[in-house]
Amino acid sequence: MRVLLVGSGGREHALAWKLAQSPSLSDLHAAPGSPGIAELCECHPIRAEDGEALLGLAGSLNVDLVVIGPEAPLVAGVADVLRHAGISVFGPSAAAARLEGSKSFAKEVMSAAEVPAAISLAVARPPCVVKADGLAAGKGVFVCRSQPELDDALRRVNALGGGMVVEELLEGPEVSVFALCDGSEALALVPAQDFKRAYDGDAGPNTGGMGSYAPVPGLEEAEIEGILGTVHRPVLAELQRRGAPFVGLLYAGLMLTADGPRVLEFNCRFGDPEAQSVLPLLAGDLVEALGAASVGELSGAHIGWRDGAAVTVVIASAGYPDSGDQGSAISGVDAATANGALVFHSGTAQHGGQLVTNGGRVLGVTGLGETILRAREAAYTAAEQIAFEGAWCRRDVALAAAEASR
Ligand code: AMP
Ligand code: GLY
Repeated sequence: MRVLLVGSGGREHALAWKLAQSPSLSDLHAAPGSPGIAELCECHPIRAEDGEALLGLAGSLNVDLVVIGPEAPLVAGVADVLRHAGISVFGPSAAAARLEGSKSFAKEVMSAAEVPAAISLAVARPPCVVKADGLAAGKGVFVCRSQPELDDALRRVNALGGGMVVEELLEGPEVSVFALCDGSEALALVPAQDFKRAYDGDAGPNTGGMGSYAPVPGLEEAEIEGILGTVHRPVLAELQRRGAPFVGLLYAGLMLTADGPRVLEFNCRFGDPEAQSVLPLLAGDLVEALGAASVGELSGAHIGWRDGAAVTVVIASAGYPDSGDQGSAISGVDAATANGALVFHSGTAQHGGQLVTNGGRVLGVTGLGETILRAREAAYTAAEQIAFEGAWCRRDVALAAAEASR
């Protein structure tokens, strides 16, 4: 199969890396790609949101499948533009991507599908959680335990414009459960945990994610199947009933409360950095699986997983999450990969042969090992090798899980 991958982040680098290993791949292209993806395939300078230009590219390359990585082009309808022209796409239509693009739409679908979710509150009073209604790159959610926190959250969400939702504050461990979907069927991937807060000990503001690990101990296949049965499949049925079948990756962000799993959010694409932990554990053929989903033939499909665990540590630039950094020289990537760790580019650029920073989250370093403890050691040992002005990372990614598994 000839595949075009759309996007340029760490998630897309991890996708490109795994797609490139698929036995059923014949040719891989990316748009716009990144310096990391360019080591794996040809990159074309077309923006991920430019549906018409991507359509032209897909046609001229005669691709069999387009895989859309990020949420922005999905919410903007790029999958629709391609599908209308008869091209197979892994990624939902704009109508189905509203599950991520609008928190209020997601609430409405969950309520119709009777999915267990955080309850919406009519009045904002602490403790509660305030969420901007539209896309905010993981930075539009405010957990408010006190009135000053709530006042600050309301100010910030109002400044974003576009409405908000307020919901009950839930407690418990969080887990990201991904499923490949073909409109009616869902196939689970190994569960992952994300580290959303900026600083150690889950302090500081929410970010796009500062690290992740997979699989999550205690969530065995039976529990995951249970979650697919109460969350993913009812949502697929409800979207299909509304004439907006979901084809792509349905990501449920769940909190495992004392009363059972509750949905915090849906995303319409792989999580980032979770994809950087999940995809390296996949043993099967990713092109075949995404291709089957894109044509509604997931029924009976199976994906294999390798034993062991993966831990991903995000290396961010000094100003993240408020701002990014551009043009600082990056060193140590080759040294970091020398012992088998993977380095995925999230925000980098190439300047005259020198790899430089180009964003807030700059690199993701994934370590693999027989246990979370070993994978974590591999990730941090590799991350130590990487240097650029202002580089930092959380030091406690997967720490609790590693200690628990000791
Ligand atoms: P979201 O983008 O909706 O997943 O929210 C980002 C993060 O905010 C989540 O990963 C949680 O850590 C936190 N969060 C969201 N909703 C709630 C909630 N109802 N109760 C507690 N924490 C929440
Ligand atoms: N890491 C969280 C997300 O991708 O939304």
